[in-house]
Amino acid sequence: MKIHRRGLLLGAAAALALPSRSEAAPRTLVARPSKLQIAPEGYPETDIWGFEGQAPGPLLRARQGARLQRRLVNELPVPTSVHWHGIRIDNAMDGVAGLTQAPVAPGETFDYAFDLPDAGTFWYHAHTNSYEQVARGLYGALIVEEADAPEIDREDIFVLDDWRLDHETAQISGDFGAWHDLSHAGRMGNILTTNGKFDLKRAARRNERLRLRLINAANARILALSLVGLEGWIMALDGMPLEHPVAAQGALRLAPAQRMDLIVDVTAADEETAHLAQMDDNGKWWSQVAWDITGSASSQRRPAPMPLPPNPRQAVPGVKGVRTVTLAMEGGAMGRLQAATYGGKRLAFRDLAERGQFWAFNGTVGRTDAPLAEAALGETLRIRIVNDTVFPHAMHLHGMHFREVMKDSDSLGPLRDTLLVQRGETREIAFVADNPGDWLFHCHMLAHAAAGMTTWIKVA
Ligand code: C2O
Ligand code: CU
Repeated sequence: MKIHRRGLLLGAAAALALPSRSEAAPRTLVARPSKLQIAPEGYPETDIWGFEGQAPGPLLRARQGARLQRRLVNELPVPTSVHWHGIRIDNAMDGVAGLTQAPVAPGETFDYAFDLPDAGTFWYHAHTNSYEQVARGLYGALIVEEADAPEIDREDIFVLDDWRLDHETAQISGDFGAWHDLSHAGRMGNILTTNGKFDLKRAARRNERLRLRLINAANARILALSLVGLEGWIMALDGMPLEHPVAAQGALRLAPAQRMDLIVDVTAADEETAHLAQMDDNGKWWSQVAWDITGSASSQRRPAPMPLPPNPRQAVPGVKGVRTVTLAMEGGAMGRLQAATYGGKRLAFRDLAERGQFWAFNGTVGRTDAPLAEAALGETLRIRIVNDTVFPHAMHLHGMHFREVMKDSDSLGPLRDTLLVQRGETREIAFVADNPGDWLFHCHMLAHAAAGMTTWIKVA
């Protein structure tokens, strides 16, 4: 309706030789400082940076196949850019400052416009000094709807974050790039929030069916979520539907930047409380989201859901006889890295540390002019990720989805865009390099990315 009217208006405008439709200004996405009540009631509000002054920023929601357009308006005191995490996008719209675009200076704008080929749960976040900007709140959910949505009673999008706040002032601790964070597990916070709140409440009825879209927007924390009074299935990972949904049991691990779509039934009884719980290392849990249950939607649970409709088919990578590139991760505290190349110079670990650099991929620290690999358009690439450090890393590939090559070397894991590689592990991924451009490949523990764990892949 709206579009129709708009078309009419613009049609009239064109007749008067006014700007044509394509020159009409897109909707804006303003990055600006603001305040948010993150800490419990009684604490002061926290100064944040947010899209439209919110954290998470506005929910961007569109139909599969639609085109998304937003004009980034930078009202921050620093340059920024926006990355659309998980979208198979035109390289020029990928938002990586210094690789796919220049950073957008304060007061400037940048027009993003791209198609949405896949339905699923995605997110957007700043990609200029992201270890600081994401920690300050510059992220939001990007939901692309299937044409045929599953039957559910309600949907919730939960953007989880881990803030580091001062205990008295509740302000974001300004120690970005603290050596300990850079060299250990990354910037861990001290208050976990869901959609910007530490005690999110919901209401539901027994036997209702909910779709939960989980997004880990934390800088470094690997979440271990579990369901209490809810039972269901993992339907999609990193936005991509699973061919065979799996029971959502035990700890649901979600590394930074990863997403998980669940369909759950409320099994808690009337007057009970259901929870999305976060477990700590000692097996204790606390509630991320609590549902007060009142009444019953029906007397019985429904049959298991059908898988989500598949996205446009992506070529399945062949894994035998394809080029394999090794990515050896080294460094960090308690690591074995003695020296590595940084800025064209070979430096001892101590000298790297002085520059805030702690990690190397194949002996090189940070992104250089040379990509990790150059792939011909359509070529299959296999990457062997060797984690020779004592920390876990969540490797994210821009622009394309990959599959994990499972240990038996014959089966492939589901399509993903971010893979958690635990300490000491070797894991392999494979993908068909079908999206031309310069694509970042980095650890999504954002302090690690800033301290050396960033490389890129060229597809041409
Ligand atoms: Cu979610 Cu390179 O980022
Ligand atoms: Cu890492």
